[in-house]
Amino acid sequence: MAELYDVQNPWDPARYRSDAFYTDLVMAAGTVLDVGCGTGSMLHHARSAGHAGRLVGVDPDVPSLRRARARADIEWVEGTAADLAWKGEFDLATMASNAFQCFVSDDDLRASLTAIHAALRDGGVFAFETRHPQAHAWEDWNPSNASDVVSGGRTLRVWHEVESVMDGVVTFTETTGEQDGTVLHVGRTSLRFLDVPELNTFLEEAGFTIQAQYGDFQHGPLTPASRSIVTLARR
Ligand SMILES: C[S@@+](CC[C@H](N)C(=O)[O-])C[C@H]1O[C@@H](n2cnc3c(N)ncnc32)[C@H](O)[C@@H]1O
Repeated sequence: MAELYDVQNPWDPARYRSDAFYTDLVMAAGTVLDVGCGTGSMLHHARSAGHAGRLVGVDPDVPSLRRARARADIEWVEGTAADLAWKGEFDLATMASNAFQCFVSDDDLRASLTAIHAALRDGGVFAFETRHPQAHAWEDWNPSNASDVVSGGRTLRVWHEVESVMDGVVTFTETTGEQDGTVLHVGRTSLRFLDVPELNTFLEEAGFTIQAQYGDFQHGPLTPASRSIVTLARR
């Protein structure tokens, strides 16, 4: 499934505003910690583009990390954000592609933010985005929006089904199947949707100052139509 993720989500700053947003920050920072790095594509790209400093990717998903480790000139660590033990070492921490929404419980959110804050040097920045709850993104996560993905020479179909929307947490399945509907894999995920005041309260409680908050990756303001909350939080 990690291979499929890369086919569906290639890191391409020339094509995607979100990838350009993070890549600009990464290339300008000396030391970078990518939390929830997945298959590592953002850091792979940064190294290929000439980043000469320390790059570290952390993720609890072993198959994703196996793909990330294709590059040995980047540090890869298996673990969750709450497990981070670095103190004051990074200029920049990132969570790209809505990885932040994997923090579902209040306890995990608090522990993760405290650990990310501690890993940054004073003045270091945590950059991430989270889908804005006002846009109800989960309403598009249904089988009628299935997509076909070509991987390893065969065409697979991927679709989503929402199981529950409760207290800001959306639980859904992602099914990968053959074209004829034969199911190959089902994964279940819960994602938390925080609005701006809730999000900022968690950040401030962990010791962060909100440096900037945007409604898109072109530094546009947050509006009632924003689909994302893009945040730069400073230690
Ligand atoms: C949507 S993927 C994003 C991957 C990568 N950042 C990207 O842009 O392609 C979310 C990632 O967050 C990871 N994740 C889930 N829970 C986590 C946690 N508690 N701490 C750190 N990463 C986590 C998942 O394993 C997954 O690789």
